[in-house]
Amino acid sequence: MNILGENVIIASEKNIFSLTNKYYSYVFCVGGNGILEHIYYGAPLTDPINSFSHHYKTHRDGVLHFQGKKNYNLSEIPQEYPTFGSTDFRFPAFHCKNKDGNTISVLKYKEHFIISDKKLLNGLPSARGGKCNTLIVRLEDNLHKIEVDLAYTIYENHGVLVRSSKIKNHGNKKLELRNIYSSSIDFPASQYKILHLHGSWSREFSEETMSVPMGRFVIDSNRGSSSAAHSPFIALCEDQCNEVSGNVYSSSLIYSGNHSISVEKGEFNNIRLLTGINPFNFNWSLSPGESFQSPEAVHAFSKNGLRGMSHIWHSFIREKIAPINFKNKPRPTYINTWESSYFKVNQEEVLNLADKAVSIGLEMVVLDDGWFEGRNDDSSSLGDWYADSNRFPDGIQDLAIKIKNKGLKFGIWVEPEMINTRSELYKKNPDWVLMAPGRISSLGRNQLILDYCNEDVVNYIFDKLDKLLSGGNIDYIKWDMNRNMSEVGSPKVAKQKQLEVPHRYILGLYSILSRLTKKYPNVLFENCASGGNRLDLGMLSYMSQSWPSDMSDPIGRLKIINGCSYLFPLDVLSAYIGPSPNHQNGRITSVSSRFNAGAFCAAQGVSLNYSDIDKNKGELTDLVNFAKEHSSDMIGGNFYRLKKSDNVFCWQYITKDYEKVFLLYFHILSGPNKPFEHIKFVGLEKNSDYLQVCNDKLYSGNLLMENGFTLPYVSMTDDNNKVSYMPKGDFSSKLFVFKKV
Ligand code: GLA
Repeated sequence: MNILGENVIIASEKNIFSLTNKYYSYVFCVGGNGILEHIYYGAPLTDPINSFSHHYKTHRDGVLHFQGKKNYNLSEIPQEYPTFGSTDFRFPAFHCKNKDGNTISVLKYKEHFIISDKKLLNGLPSARGGKCNTLIVRLEDNLHKIEVDLAYTIYENHGVLVRSSKIKNHGNKKLELRNIYSSSIDFPASQYKILHLHGSWSREFSEETMSVPMGRFVIDSNRGSSSAAHSPFIALCEDQCNEVSGNVYSSSLIYSGNHSISVEKGEFNNIRLLTGINPFNFNWSLSPGESFQSPEAVHAFSKNGLRGMSHIWHSFIREKIAPINFKNKPRPTYINTWESSYFKVNQEEVLNLADKAVSIGLEMVVLDDGWFEGRNDDSSSLGDWYADSNRFPDGIQDLAIKIKNKGLKFGIWVEPEMINTRSELYKKNPDWVLMAPGRISSLGRNQLILDYCNEDVVNYIFDKLDKLLSGGNIDYIKWDMNRNMSEVGSPKVAKQKQLEVPHRYILGLYSILSRLTKKYPNVLFENCASGGNRLDLGMLSYMSQSWPSDMSDPIGRLKIINGCSYLFPLDVLSAYIGPSPNHQNGRITSVSSRFNAGAFCAAQGVSLNYSDIDKNKGELTDLVNFAKEHSSDMIGGNFYRLKKSDNVFCWQYITKDYEKVFLLYFHILSGPNKPFEHIKFVGLEKNSDYLQVCNDKLYSGNLLMENGFTLPYVSMTDDNNKVSYMPKGDFSSKLFVFKKV
């Protein structure tokens, strides 16, 4: 028996493997024919190995008998890494064309290793190790000499399992890899629901819940980015599972390109969850001696419903994914030039805005799009990363110094993966873009995508950004990416390897991000892709925060944050007070509602023009002060979705030291004489009292949790200031702070 650390991985002589910590057990074994059979995933078992040394298995009278073994039909056997051409007709985790021209593979157990800790993947972002163990099970297709290493990492203090697969070609002929899923989990037949997050520009992270249908339900991307259409995340909720109770099995991928997460309900109602690179339009040729590493899939199991699941993800992302440098650092409050000035930025304008920022107490100026040579609108100049000589005659470094002299930090927007045909860079290097021979390249926002499969391109862009940052005056970079891939092809990649382009592109992107973030560890990077078109665990490995959406209207924003919060801690999100009427949907809302919707996001800002700032100076100053006072509170605490209906959002947040509690109540449409609504707090100390800061009223923790708190209501009187009244009108909100005494 092989036991490591905190009894986390056990491999018995009978080749039963158990990964067990205080959150879950994951058990599988080597079946009679050498096939890796899945046994159990769920709440921790007390004696996982022995409970399953004779695990319950019935076989129906099979029509097909795998390799002659009577009634052993792989269509009904739960497996760890299923292949095609066995007797399993479900979608396989592994599908590869061999030298004989067929795609039949039989992967059998060869050996296994247990290593303490966890290795980082080469060339791909991956979860950090620390207090974890990794089991590597090596499988082999003996006929074609294909070796597959399945890696499983279990942490002592996290309810997640990290999986990946690595394929090695030990044969003497090329292989063509098609499906290389990072992970496959077969669940027993039961009733499950799927929660997933979908959307589009300005309405990212919309929630959909549905029963698992017969057949195959797939969320995926073939756009070159993980996309807002289908965020790489699925939660499989068992039976009666809800926000606070029940088993949830969820999955995401540390990857920013074309992903695929599928749930298949087979003919015997058994469920297969596959997580990995999208096999559609993917073909990787693997020459003898070469290997292919999949990205890491992360699975979070919770027996405490969706809330429990979210807390597992939040803590894991903070501890093992998000860059360490900004882990516990409060984010600076900021003004962003985008919705205040759009492309009409120039030195004078930015310096004036900086003065406005100072006047309301903000800490950083972010110069968004429009600062580089010739960029007067979105039709030109991407690729030419030097300051526009007319509008910024003294250059960016000088501007940054002037801004710093006002006591502010300075940040800047870049879109380094893109190029306009109207640019100096394109004139010099028309073949530096993704394109297909003989095809007209479709433009997206007038731009093409640089070919990050080409090392020269990656190095060129690295040098440009390095030059920008090496001046030492830039504190923050907003890294944007504003279009999807259409005519996917690289002039640099051989014809036979064109289907490798999307993945090679992502590897190029990761290489530049890894070099830059290593070289500039103190620069705060923000991830943006027209908002949330590439918000995933891959990008979050390099960038401490993300702009989840261009939707700055508070009602739109609430839904987006609610959706995001299933997976991401709000520490990694940024928000700002945008204009009203809102530029995306025209809605008119109060300044406080625009602030409140994003109040629990770690990064808080403003994107307003001078006159809006002047008009609302007093209120903005108060809100910025509030944001600054609580900026470290908004890192590392627990977020609770207390209520969400068509008309109401109510969220609670407790700081990581449990000293402060925030309650946000938002109603969309106002209504008179409504019944009182109570909300029960969660996670308080029942023997402590909590002081409501706005009126010094004391509440017992016990009562707030058991009896609840009466939410403010719309009163007919004019006294809007009363704590128990909701501000009159639609789209109004109240944010309460309680301090433990
Ligand atoms: C994208 C981003 C915006 C802004 C613009 C600038 O749409 O999401 O926040 O930076 O680009 O062009």
